Amino acid sequence: MYHLACVNCGATYPADEIIYNCKKCGHLLAVKYPLDKISVSKANWNRRPISVWRYRELLPVTIPPVTLQEGGTPLYHLKRLGEEIGLPYLYAKHEGMNPSGSFKDRGMTVGVSMALQLGKKSVACASTGNTSASLAVYAAKAGIPSVVLLPAGKVAVGKVAQALMHGAEVISVRGNFDRALEMVHDLCLTHGLYLLNSINPYRLEGQKTIGFEAVDQLGEVPDRIVLPVGNAGNISAVYKGLLELQELDFVDRLPMMTGIQAEGSSPIVRAIRENLPEYVPERDPETVATAIRIGAPVNGEKALTAIRRTNGLAETVTDAEILSMQKDLARKEGIGVEPASAASVAGIRKLVQMGKIDRDEKIVCVVTGHLLKDPETVIKQCEPPTEIDADLPSLLSALHL
Ligand code: F0G
Repeated sequence: MYHLACVNCGATYPADEIIYNCKKCGHLLAVKYPLDKISVSKANWNRRPISVWRYRELLPVTIPPVTLQEGGTPLYHLKRLGEEIGLPYLYAKHEGMNPSGSFKDRGMTVGVSMALQLGKKSVACASTGNTSASLAVYAAKAGIPSVVLLPAGKVAVGKVAQALMHGAEVISVRGNFDRALEMVHDLCLTHGLYLLNSINPYRLEGQKTIGFEAVDQLGEVPDRIVLPVGNAGNISAVYKGLLELQELDFVDRLPMMTGIQAEGSSPIVRAIRENLPEYVPERDPETVATAIRIGAPVNGEKALTAIRRTNGLAETVTDAEILSMQKDLARKEGIGVEPASAASVAGIRKLVQMGKIDRDEKIVCVVTGHLLKDPETVIKQCEPPTEIDADLPSLLSALHL
């Protein structure tokens, strides 16, 4: 049976204790499996459909899970864009193809299942949007109430629409995400709701399966995995999962974990650049990629470890670079993603231009959320449709043939 362990001091806690921070030092907790005792085989995994639950021996859920068939997302070879950038082996894992349109579903299928397993009756999170959409979806599937706190005016409309339609209690906080997270944390500690932000160690277990799938789909360990970084949960989760595969001898090396942040919201990149032991929080983060508009990433410590231990990189991209890559992915590869997701590929384009990437590397960029999450940003970037009278001559004169 697994247990929880502090990522800083190593203090351990039983798996069924509802706890988000170490009681001794306040740092985050991670799930630890007795990997030498777990019966798990690669052949067994390969017999199952590719999805989060293919990897169930390395997940904490022991009850029938709350699932909508998450994971198993496509890994696309970016042939045209890769040629243009000068990377013949550039891939995108399209997490927008999950049930609610983002990678958060991997975390929520596990997190909401754990809420039930632990006997919790309600769930909550703060969110820049996607976590709230996903939580609302999985709470609906589980038949339990959910509460979500959003930074007022800073959440893309598709995400709010999902949270509302799937029946979450949606609270708009006059403050940024970092403040909303502090508030929901307090609420959960005092009122017994189950907190499903990425400080919840169980939720991140689901998200680590992105890395498992990338290895399975590519047929080998990629040289580099690139993720947009906000609260830094996802990059930490993928790294943790790959460490477990290494300990099991399923892989013989780790990819260089590479994190990309928006220039106006980049505490992790600055910590790597300046070689700081800890990141310095930003008070007023700002970016068009509202999903990653986060100044005090709660998993920052783990992300710095992931990047440093794997010899990875961290880089910023401007809003203009993000939007330009969003368009390139849409028009040159047929891949529709939201701005934050385009940051990973935009970051790789920039790192190649800076001469920091070997052109033979096999690179998997995780594109994290679907284009339709943020239609307003899309519409602003495109020419409006041409309206015409309902006759053929008008059509012919309108077309650029
Ligand atoms: N991409 C998208 C589309 C996201 O929604 C997020 C995070 C990230 C990347 C960054 O992932 O936080 O694990 O580093 N969204 C959270 C939310 C914060 O509330 O939906 P991270």
